[in-house]
Amino acid sequence: MGRNRNNVLNTESQAINLTDAEIGNDGLFPQKKLFIQPNIGLEIDVRKPVIEILNASLANEAVLTQKTRGAHWNVSGTSFFELHILFETQYKQLNEISDKIAERVRMLGGITIASFEEFIKHTRISEHCTEIPDNLHLLADHETIIRFLREDIRKCSEEYEDEGTVDLLVGVMSLHEKMAWMLRAYVENESINGKSQKRK
Ligand SMILES: [Fe+2]
Repeated sequence: MGRNRNNVLNTESQAINLTDAEIGNDGLFPQKKLFIQPNIGLEIDVRKPVIEILNASLANEAVLTQKTRGAHWNVSGTSFFELHILFETQYKQLNEISDKIAERVRMLGGITIASFEEFIKHTRISEHCTEIPDNLHLLADHETIIRFLREDIRKCSEEYEDEGTVDLLVGVMSLHEKMAWMLRAYVENESINGKSQKRK
């Protein structure tokens, strides 16, 4: 057990003025806020890096949600109906994931990023698309996110001992693995039917 268990006997929540740097705020919100520090056995030096991980994950989800909506809106061709529905199902799942990640940031006493500007700044997948995103493009983004999540889960478990965040991120990773499988399976089917697509 590590440093994040130090305050476990202190049952009173603490009202503390935190600086912007301490809560991961980089300027889009009021300069200082009065926060009631969560007294949940995770010190600020643990919560801050976890909040940064969560906000980066939220940015990934927001960007991929918007790309999936773009795919839903712009898909055409003989598979229109099934892909239109598949993309809609997936952007709704991504929305739910975003909500859970954002709420975890708040549970840890952080500020949830919420603007397009912040999402683009923090995302670890490319926001830029040269063409309408297709299955393979979305699949590659899901797989990138899964790889980042795997490392984030390891850090949250081994370095920060924040099992609540680990539990959340494991669930998120498994939803991405399922969405990636569906996109992959669809492309495999299309290849068999002669509409070859190549991975980028
Ligand atoms: Fe729609």
